[in-house]
Amino acid sequence: MINSQFQKKISLNKRYQLFSEQIVQWYLDDGRHDLPWRKKVTPYRIWISEIMLQQTQVKTVIPYFKNFITKFPSQKKLSQASEDQIMAAWSGLGFYRRARNIFAAKEIIKNNYRNRFPKDFQQIIELPGIGKSTAGAIMSLAYLDPHPILDGNVKRVISRFLKKELDLIKEAELWKLSKEMINRDDCFSYTQGIMDLGATICSPSNPSCGECPISSQCLSAFKVDAVKKNKISVAKKVISMNLSLIQTEKSLLLAKNEASSIWKNLWLPFNTESVKNDIKKFKLIADQKINHELTHRKLEINLRTYVSLKELKIETNQTYKWIKKDRIDDYGLPKPISNVIKEL
Ligand code: ADE
Repeated sequence: MINSQFQKKISLNKRYQLFSEQIVQWYLDDGRHDLPWRKKVTPYRIWISEIMLQQTQVKTVIPYFKNFITKFPSQKKLSQASEDQIMAAWSGLGFYRRARNIFAAKEIIKNNYRNRFPKDFQQIIELPGIGKSTAGAIMSLAYLDPHPILDGNVKRVISRFLKKELDLIKEAELWKLSKEMINRDDCFSYTQGIMDLGATICSPSNPSCGECPISSQCLSAFKVDAVKKNKISVAKKVISMNLSLIQTEKSLLLAKNEASSIWKNLWLPFNTESVKNDIKKFKLIADQKINHELTHRKLEINLRTYVSLKELKIETNQTYKWIKKDRIDDYGLPKPISNVIKEL
């Protein structure tokens, strides 16, 4: 007699196999094959796209990815870039730590791996900015070597498929499931497919179970309650900034933000306090308030714009530069600041 434990295992394995086959078929039939990192696949392009996609949606990433790849088409080209140039290419995408990590990682790849993106999972996961899921995605997508991934979308798809409460299931258990469910024959289509399924069909609040390729097997199909919209939202902390944008006819005075964690290493107008001795030399021409929301913070920026006749030296220990207005795109500036500058 077959032991029931064994029987259960077989049927579970079969279900996982069906799950992964259906996801692969769905991706091959209906996946977003035209995404730029899927059309031409190299480890370098997969790395950059996966870092951009860590905290940003596909439709926002597309133009930034294309622009980044135009500026730095290969690992070798990236190896010659300064941190400022990488920050400039990242400008507007947010979560700038990712760009700083790309700079740090490409230095390691240059020095330790002769500018070839490493192939080994352990070497990849040791690079700055790459965790287990991103390393898994790079292995599966760039090297076709099946490794599990576990981002928010994948967690949701798996936990719904098996009707397990995400709050109760342990991270280690999810990793184990993600590994068991992988399609080993076509890990590229499977990995892209499960991410697409989570992003487009198995959405957090209103999944489209009628269009889902795995709904006949899914234990939560047509049973997910619409998430209540009136969840208590936590008020964001408000941070106010007083900035002074000083310009001559052809140039702008910007300082590198080396100290504060918000917009670290981007170029900003001077903090008004830090130029208060020099400010009398300039003519005030505009005073505006800019509100800008980050993920966890609300910024209230009081921005004063001044005109100076000459590119004066400033008494400060901050790194600063008079930047020619037509070279401003070579510097990484936060979006609300570059928007104001465009209007000058
Ligand atoms: N999110 C993370 N990686 C992704 C990818 N390769 N495609 C779509 N969404 C993603």
